[in-house]
This record gives sequence, C-alpha cells and structure tokens, in this order.
Amino acid sequence: MFQALFRRKIDFPTASSSPMSRVLGLRDLTFFGIAAIIGGGIFSSVGRACSEGGPGVIWLFLICAIACGFAALCYAEFASRIPVSGSAYTYAYASFGELFAWIIGWALIMEYSIGNIYIAFSWSGYVTHMLDAFNINLPRWLTVDYRTASRVFSEHLQLNTFSVDQKDAIHAWQNAPKVGGLRLIFDAPAVLINILITILVYRGVKESKQVSNAMVVLKLIIIIAVIAVGAFYIDFDNYTPFNPSGMKGIMAGVSAVFFTYIGFDAVSTLAEESKNPERDLPKGMFYSLLICTVLYILISLILTGMVPYNLLNVDDPLAYALQYKGIHWLEYIVGASAIIAMTGVLLVFQMGQPRIWMSMSRDGLLPKRFSEIHPKFKTPGFSTIMTGVVVGVPIFFTDETFVLDFTSIGTIFAFVLVCGGVLLLPQRKKGEGKGFRLWYINGRWLFPLICTIAGILVYLFTPDYVGEVVSGSGDLMFIASHRILWVCLAVLSVFCWKKHWNLIPLLGVAICLYLLTGMTLENWKWFGLWFSIGIVFYMIYGRRRSKLNEA
Ligand code: ALA
Repeated sequence: MFQALFRRKIDFPTASSSPMSRVLGLRDLTFFGIAAIIGGGIFSSVGRACSEGGPGVIWLFLICAIACGFAALCYAEFASRIPVSGSAYTYAYASFGELFAWIIGWALIMEYSIGNIYIAFSWSGYVTHMLDAFNINLPRWLTVDYRTASRVFSEHLQLNTFSVDQKDAIHAWQNAPKVGGLRLIFDAPAVLINILITILVYRGVKESKQVSNAMVVLKLIIIIAVIAVGAFYIDFDNYTPFNPSGMKGIMAGVSAVFFTYIGFDAVSTLAEESKNPERDLPKGMFYSLLICTVLYILISLILTGMVPYNLLNVDDPLAYALQYKGIHWLEYIVGASAIIAMTGVLLVFQMGQPRIWMSMSRDGLLPKRFSEIHPKFKTPGFSTIMTGVVVGVPIFFTDETFVLDFTSIGTIFAFVLVCGGVLLLPQRKKGEGKGFRLWYINGRWLFPLICTIAGILVYLFTPDYVGEVVSGSGDLMFIASHRILWVCLAVLSVFCWKKHWNLIPLLGVAICLYLLTGMTLENWKWFGLWFSIGIVFYMIYGRRRSKLNEA
C-alpha cells in the first residue's frame, strides 16, 4: 500500500504530439508572466506590508524575489524535462508520485482560489473608493467584511491613528442593520465580482493574446506613472527611521509581499504553446520576475516616501497615496485602471483553477464531474461553478488578512516541494534532453558553509535576535519558528554533505523555509487543518479511484 502512494504517472502526451499551436515567443511569455504577477498584490497588499515594515520593506521584496527566482529555476528544470502543459501538479505526478502530486494540487487551491478571494476584496476596495470619489457612498456595512469590522471595532480603543479603512470598519460595525441579533455586514462588491467572473468563465471567455498584452501595458503604465509622478512628492523625513520595527516588522509583511510575486509559475503551464519552450520558459519567468521586482521596490519607496508608513494599511495604497498628496487627476486614473487590471487577474486565476481540477479529475483523483465539459460552452462547467463557490462562500466569513496569509503559506509550501523535488531528481547525463538545464553546483561544502556564515553574521550584527531566539526571551512563535529553521538547515546540511545535493534548489528550499518563519501560529493551525483534510480526502477517495489503479 505504501508503494501505491508514490506510484508515478509516466504516460504523458509528448510535447511534439500536442495539438496546440506553438505561437508564443519569449516576449509573449514574459508578458504573460507579468499579467499573472501584477494584480491585487501591488495594488493592495503592499499597503499592509509597508504599514508594518516601513520603507525597509524593500528588503523583503528582495528576499521574496530571490526565493521566487530559485523556485523559477526549479520550475524551469521540471518544465524542460516534462514539456507538457500543466503545473507543479503534473511535474510532481511524473517525478514523485501520486501523494506528492495530490498534496501540490491541494496546495494550488490556496494559490488560485483563495488568492482570488483576496483579489476580490482588493477589487472591492478600489471600487468602493472610486464610487466615494463620485459621491456614491455605499453603506459601509456593504463594503467591509464581517471579521474585519468586528476585529477593528474591538481594537479601536487601543489605536492612536486610524487608516481610512479602519474608520470605515468601525462605522460599519456601529451602523449595520441587525438580523436576529446578528449584524449584517459583508463585502457586496467582492461577492458581485466573483459571481460575474464565474458567469464569464462558465460561458467561456476567449483568452486573447492582444487583450492580455494590452492589459499588461496598461498595468505597467499606471505603475510607472505613479513612480514618476510620486517621486516629486517624496517627503524624505518619512524615510527616517528606515526600518521602524526592525526585521520583525519587515517579516510581518511576508504574506503580503510574497503574494505580489505569485503567478510567475503560470508561465510554465504554456509549454505546449511556446515556440521554444526549453529556452524561453525559464527566460520568460526570469524577465517577468526581474521587471516586477524593480517596479515593486520603486513603488514601495515611493509609497513610504509620500505617506507616513503607519497610514498605509488601506485597500488601495496607490490611489490613497495620490489622494493624500492631492494628485486627484492621477488618483482616478490609477483607481480605474487598477479595477480593470485586477479583473483581468481574477479571470486568469478563475480559469486556471478549473483546469487543474480537470487534470486531477482525469487522473481519477477528483470525481468525474470535475472534468465534464459543458456541451454548449465547451468549458469545464462543474469545476468552474465549484471554483465560484470556493471563492464566493468564504467572502462572507473570512477577511483579507486571513486569505492573504493562507494563500502565501500554501504557495511557499508548494515552492518548497518543487525545489525539494528537483533535489531528488536523478541527474541528467550530458547531452540528455535539450534546452534549459539547471546548472549543477555541488553543495557538499558550500551549503553548510553558507549556513555557517549566515549564522555568524546574524550573531554579530543582530544581538537582539540572538537574545530572543537563543536564550528564549521573546515572542514564543518567533523563537519556535526560528529554532526550527536552524534545525532544518542543520539537517539539510548533513544530507547535502552526504548526497552532494545541487546548491541551487537547496538554496530555494532554505529561503522558502526562512519566509515561512514569518507566518503566525494561527496561519499554521489553519494550514495544518487544510493539509489534513486534503490527506484524508486522498486516502478516502483519490487513492481508490486513481486511474493508475487500472494500469
Ligand atoms: N501576484 C498576484 C497578484 O498580486 C497574485 O494579484
């Protein structure tokens, strides 16, 4: 039985037998990467990260970019070994077997569906503020989610300054109508956009390269415009102190910042449609990551330079910063463009999720209905509706912070598996396969050396860290997660020394593990619950119904 959990799928259509036409070049792939990366994150979650870490949040953008860069290399290695459409789910099925594939498929729900809940909330934030600007004021209890209203209201006596959104949340709690003693508070625009997107995807929207490319250009123009105009309004006093809450404050924004990079991996799903996948897929991922990293760092410097960082905990930080400085002409343009851009990202992810479920269902791991194609619209109808339900229902009882953390923890976890997976792949012989090939750098001595140097630097330059983590005088979660990190690094060093592992995926695993130390206990509890439900479902259903049972 144990072996059955690791059985592999070997029967994939080869790239050359794919019926899809190979039309995408490097520029298209880079554009596609940017299309999936730039969305709710930079338009929204970046505000929360800046409000916690101050201008120093740029370090976190760099760390996350490096983590994603390593993960991209590992995705590229998989994509060139198995150049068929799919995602981490397909790669895992081919290399590590069914259980891993299932776990990754399950984690991808967090990236695609739960991520879309966040984007729906952000979309709603921009729409509400746009409507406000035109004096159309929706009642606040229809624009805030219940949990946020309740939490902010209960905390408000301890706060000295309030962001605009916090004021709205308090107002919503105080003025909401009651039904049977329960306050009626929910984010109506977020519910509405999810319904509209689900209908669109159900009826089948044609993904048009032109529309998608135009959308990318629009997003780039808005961001560059905010950078260019905002640069003239920087108040340099806002940069002191640069790291107001130290590394802890910066790491508190890890989910928010990591979220901004999610999506580059979607490029690897286009293997069958690209002209030269082996060469262009890795490059496309890299170029899109590089462009976004530069823009993200600039935009966070501009935001924290224009507005005191503690006021930036708003849903629409870009528009808010412009409003704060009275640049209303650009504020409205940014608001409208952000709404259009986020609608595009919602569409991409809401179309991606049913297709992953379709593959899982075809492999027998999910019920057959998930791969049924609608006779008229030719879309995976049931999967699409289920995606709408999975995105829509939680809008009523979760909040932005929760879904953001949940998405990021699940995606970082998937990256750890992908990087860790590459470590376990057999080395390719010289001349075997073509195109991209991950360079092999023997980590035997280098990895333990890098970890030791990192430890010494931390010891020398951050005495507080040593005091808290080594002598155990700080926050319990911080101590526990960092101690676990160092133990993991020590264990990895031993294995690497024994097995001569490749340094590149190993560094990917290490940096992703570091990012995971920014998660709270609450995040881990929910993640554990989600993970356990997934395993139980697999044991009860997928393991028995897997198509590999028929082989
Ligand atoms: N990176 C994507 C976004 O920010 C998920 O919307």
